[in-house]
Amino acid sequence: MSTAANKNLRPKRVLSGMRPTGKLHLGNYMGALKNWVNLQNTVNEDGTPKYECYFFIADLHALTTDYADTSRLQQNTLEVALDFLAAGLNPAKSTIFVQSHVAQHAELFTLFSMFTPLGWLERVPTYKDQQEQLKEKDLNTYGFLGYPLLQAADILLYEPDYVPVGADQVAHVELTREVARRFNSLYKTECLPEPDVLVTASPKLPGTDGRKMSKSYGNTILMSDSEDEIRKKLKTMVTDPARIRRTDVGNPDVCPVFDLHKVFSSDETQLKVREGCTTAAIGCIECKGWAADGVVAELQPIHTRRKEYEADATLVDKILKAGNAKAAVRAEQTMKEVRAAMQIHG
Ligand code: TRP
Ligand code: SF4
Repeated sequence: MSTAANKNLRPKRVLSGMRPTGKLHLGNYMGALKNWVNLQNTVNEDGTPKYECYFFIADLHALTTDYADTSRLQQNTLEVALDFLAAGLNPAKSTIFVQSHVAQHAELFTLFSMFTPLGWLERVPTYKDQQEQLKEKDLNTYGFLGYPLLQAADILLYEPDYVPVGADQVAHVELTREVARRFNSLYKTECLPEPDVLVTASPKLPGTDGRKMSKSYGNTILMSDSEDEIRKKLKTMVTDPARIRRTDVGNPDVCPVFDLHKVFSSDETQLKVREGCTTAAIGCIECKGWAADGVVAELQPIHTRRKEYEADATLVDKILKAGNAKAAVRAEQTMKEVRAAMQIHG
């Protein structure tokens, strides 16, 4: 009875990670990071944090596709760390760390690899999809097949209650649950609890060319872009293709700029755009200026925090070192149980 009560009182643990793809863009922010910051800052009625948060940079996962050129890996990791902090992840509240610096990830991955059937990995939908999409790379590697298993190790090491991820990652969390079940049943233990996925709703966010905002399309607005850069990029953004002359009426429902308004502008501004666009009372330049205002307002506090962290050249490094050490303590706690269950040394 009292254990159950304590269990309810314990903050739910949350863990998620992101590959270091270089400077993060507005899509990464709106689709993941912003949600992480919200989880970190959610409190109970008595003001205590609702979640105990672990967020990490999955640099080993970056190697599964970018093993041939590792020259940017370290820099990308630092850039993503800075974006995490600028977004509002707070090292006093969340444990922020780098995957490769917590060696237990590699250890647990190795142990899991012993009993994971190949078929489980071959059947994960992202396996064939990504191989198709990244044809220029040779992804016929052991590491790439093992991608979701490494992710299972990332997750189960921290015994989280929830894993907040985008819809594209649900299959990976499902595999994680299967790995936990197999481990527990093989070694007659309950040491690895199955986490629940927390699917993050991500708004439709078009890039400057109207396609989904994505680094690989080169159509992004970066979290770190200055106000001038943001305005310049939005000026070149595609609009309703039928609105050629200023005097043509437009249709916001087919215009990517309006998709930005839906995310970043007030209802009032959206109404003003709809009215003005459908009657040709406003021009696209004006409309894009208003969209830029919304984006700039969203990013303003992020830019302010970024400057604070950039002011001290060693600060990010120190934060990651402290985060790595904290994560390693938690990870080692699980590894002790895992090694004991598998009867590995000691
Ligand atoms: N595969 C995830 C992605 O591409 C990144 C990731 C790696 C991750 N390990 C994780 C996410 C563990 C959540 C939990 O977005
Ligand atoms: Fe799109 Fe705005 Fe131009 Fe209408 S006025 S076509 S919503 S950019």
